[in-house]
Amino acid sequence: MEPYRIKVVEPIPVLTRDERTAAMRAAGYNPFNLNADQITIDLLSDSGTGALSAAQQAAAALGDETYAGARSYYRFRDAVASLTGFEHILPVHQGRAAERILFGALIAPGQLSVSNTHFDTTRANVHLSGGTAVDLPCPEAADLDSDTPFKGDIDLVALAEALEGPTEVAVVVMTITNNGGGGQPVSMANLEAAAAITRAHGVPFILDAARFAENAWLVIQREPGWSDKTPTEVARAAFDLADGAVASLKKDAIVHMGGFLALRDPDLATRCEAVLIATEGFRTYGGLAGRDLEMIAVGLEEVVQPDYLRARAGQAEHLASLIEKAGVSIVRPPGMHALYLNAGRLLSHLTPAQYPGHALACELYVAGGIRCAELGSLYLGVEDETGTLVKPAPYELVRLAIPRRTYTQSHLEYVAEVIAEIATSPESVPGQRLVSAPPLLRHFHCRTEPV
Ligand code: F0G
Repeated sequence: MEPYRIKVVEPIPVLTRDERTAAMRAAGYNPFNLNADQITIDLLSDSGTGALSAAQQAAAALGDETYAGARSYYRFRDAVASLTGFEHILPVHQGRAAERILFGALIAPGQLSVSNTHFDTTRANVHLSGGTAVDLPCPEAADLDSDTPFKGDIDLVALAEALEGPTEVAVVVMTITNNGGGGQPVSMANLEAAAAITRAHGVPFILDAARFAENAWLVIQREPGWSDKTPTEVARAAFDLADGAVASLKKDAIVHMGGFLALRDPDLATRCEAVLIATEGFRTYGGLAGRDLEMIAVGLEEVVQPDYLRARAGQAEHLASLIEKAGVSIVRPPGMHALYLNAGRLLSHLTPAQYPGHALACELYVAGGIRCAELGSLYLGVEDETGTLVKPAPYELVRLAIPRRTYTQSHLEYVAEVIAEIATSPESVPGQRLVSAPPLLRHFHCRTEPV
């Protein structure tokens, strides 16, 4: 049961199937081109899409918009410091700004950033700093169907090899939970071991802590020795292992905008602060309004409440069980922020070159007004000059991201009904063909058509 009730509502559009078919065609079969007015249930992202609490809105009214030294900054700083224990805390407008500033200071051209899995923007910021991003997910992550509890872990043997390898490792980044790796959690045992190996080589160990509370909750549920701890204690134990953290607060601070860069090393913090001031804003607001800083401080307290986390995990599990009952596979076990549908298996009549994940994402919109994103060969595959897919993605997935406190159980049951209806005749879902695709970030811009 959700531990909150609804006080403010926003109507959601419900279009006819014909209207949705026309909207999808006009969008070039790219869900990123759809407008909010055309979408019934938006599962594109859990980022910045959560519902604010009354307490957050009340705090926003106290927002102090003083240019330097705002009261709101100190409330933000104290909330982040008491959660993480880091000494140097820089506000940023969102997670990717923290990545850009930190990697610019840490990575020299030719060096490596090693991770359990870099999120897209994290990878892009490593590359912008002249480095190369290397993902070392644990071997268990490759089996989508296994119920191994911590498929977000890093491969410790491969990490040790990378740290000893010929190319210098500038930073190790642990993404908790592992968004690019199916939303799977990272165990405390893996974090401890990875931190020890990394520290032994004198390399900074950084958390990408966008979903720190959800990772903590899954540790409490799944990892021996942690079941009697609070989410705050587990999160703190994770931060204690790290030299610093970048975080998008649009996830686990349940706000629409915000992030932080937190560090222990005063020299590194000073270098980052100079770039922060030049590109984001003064060190006491960093691209955020006072009211944002206030809402973050409250959100960071709300997100670690066990009742909230239990209900959030329960929503994901409930949706997962309805989807599996309809005969559709997901990446197991279900995490918390998203479910990943195995589109390759459901649409087995399509080849990777017909982009089954993308085809399913388009069908979910046409059938039910549900928007979500493909994580398969459209996003990760490689084509030759003629547009022929020469290197498909390892999996053809569709991510259903679940915004925080936004949709009720009946909304999610509706999503499951639409998926179940598609699963009654999956062979009727047409494949897709690329019509146009820019070379960079093509999944945001490309156009396709049914074949
Ligand atoms: N790290 C992780 C693990 C993320 O999931 C995201 C964003 C970022 C960093 C970047 O943060 O958006 O505040 O700049 N993930 C969103 C998503 C966009 O839909 O998964 P940001």
